[in-house]
Amino acid sequence: MGAEGRVMEPTEGRTESQETAPGTRERVFSGMQPSGEAHLGNYLGALQHWERMQDDYECFFCIVDEHAITGEYTPDELPQRTFDLAVSFLAVGLDPERSTIFVQSDVPEHTELSWLFNAVTPVGDLERMTQYKDKSAHLESVPAGLLNYPVLQAADILIYRAHVVPVGEDQLQHLELTREIARRWNARYGPLFPEPRGVVGQAGRIVGLDGAQKMSKSLGNTVGVLAEPEEIWDRVRTAKTDPQRVRKSDPGRPEMCNVYSLHEHLTDPDALYDIRDQCRGATRGCVECKRILADSIAERFAPFRERAEGYRSRPQDVVDVLESGARRARSLARDTLDEVRERMGLGWRGAARSASTRTGSVSP
Ligand code: AMP
Ligand code: TRP
Repeated sequence: MGAEGRVMEPTEGRTESQETAPGTRERVFSGMQPSGEAHLGNYLGALQHWERMQDDYECFFCIVDEHAITGEYTPDELPQRTFDLAVSFLAVGLDPERSTIFVQSDVPEHTELSWLFNAVTPVGDLERMTQYKDKSAHLESVPAGLLNYPVLQAADILIYRAHVVPVGEDQLQHLELTREIARRWNARYGPLFPEPRGVVGQAGRIVGLDGAQKMSKSLGNTVGVLAEPEEIWDRVRTAKTDPQRVRKSDPGRPEMCNVYSLHEHLTDPDALYDIRDQCRGATRGCVECKRILADSIAERFAPFRERAEGYRSRPQDVVDVLESGARRARSLARDTLDEVRERMGLGWRGAARSASTRTGSVSP
C-alpha cells in the first residue's frame, strides 16, 4: 500500500513539484456518501478531522450522491438523506464561510472528467480494488458503475487539483489509484495534476455499540450526531462491554472494552485514569461507566444539536449554502476540465481557427 497506509503529518510526503506557492494554502478535498444523519463513527473517523482542517487548508467537502447510486438505494429517500447529511456537516462545524460545501451531482464536470479518466485507467486496476471485490462478490449482475466508482472518486479529487484527502483507512487503496491515474494522465498529456496524499485521522476504525463490528448505519450499532441526550443514553446503555466482566464484582479489562475505547475519544482525559482504575478494581459497574460515556457524548454533541435545529428551521439556508458551494466548485472544476479537454484533443474549434489563419479568412 506504500507510504499512505498510516497516519501522516499533513506536510509529510510532499514532493517538490507539488509545493504550493508561498502564502497559498494547500487544498483539501473529501467526500461522504449521503446516508442521512451522520453518526459517531463518521464524526470521530472523519468529520472532526475535516472540521479541524479548515484552519489550515482550503477545503472542499462534497456529498457524493452519484457514488451512492452505484449500490442498493431507494431513489425516493436519497434527497432526504442528502439534505440530512448536509445538516450534519453544518451542525458539526463545517463552515461555509471557510469551506466549499456542495453536492456532487450539482457539479456535472466530475462525471465528465471521470469519463475522460476512463481512457487512462486499466480495467485490471479497477478489478483489483478490495471494495469492488467485496461489493461485487454477492451480486449476480455487477453494475459497471461499481467497477468505475474509484475513477469518479479520482475525478472528484483531481478536478480541484487537491493536495490532501482525509479518508478512512479503507479508502487508501482508492487514493493510491487516484495517484496512479494522475501519473498516467500527466505522462500522456503533460503535467497538470498533483498526486494527492491520503491522510487517515488518529481515531482509526470506530467499533459499534455491538462491540464487534465497525460502527455503521446499516448495522444499527451507531449513535447519531444529532441525537438528544435521552436517545444517546438509550443507545449507549445497550453497548457491549468486556465479555468476561459478568458481575459488577468481577474485575474488568478496559483494554478489552469498547465502551472504554469510546471514553478515550470522548471523555475528559483527566477522568480516564479513574474510569480505568475503577473498572479494573471492580469499584464501578458498567452501567455507571456507560452513564458517564453517554454524558460525554451528549456534552460533545450539544452544540451540534443546537446548530442543526437552527438549520432545520431555516432549510433555505442549507439550500443556499449548497448552491453557493456548487457555484464556486463549478467555476474551478470548469477551468480544469477546459484544460483537460484541450490537451486530450477535444478542443476541435482550434482546427477551425488555424484553418482561418491559413486562408486569411475572418476567424469564427
Ligand atoms: P460511510 O458513510 O460509512 O461511507 O463513512 C463515511 C466516512 O466516515 C468514512 O470514509 C470514514 O472516514 C468515516 N467512518 C464511517 N464509519 C466509521 C467508523 N466506524 N470508524 C471510523 N470512521 C468511520
Ligand atoms: N468513496 C468514499 C467513501 O466511501 C467517498 C468518496 C467519494 C470520497 N469521492 C471521494 C472520499 C473523494 C474522498 C475523496 O468513503
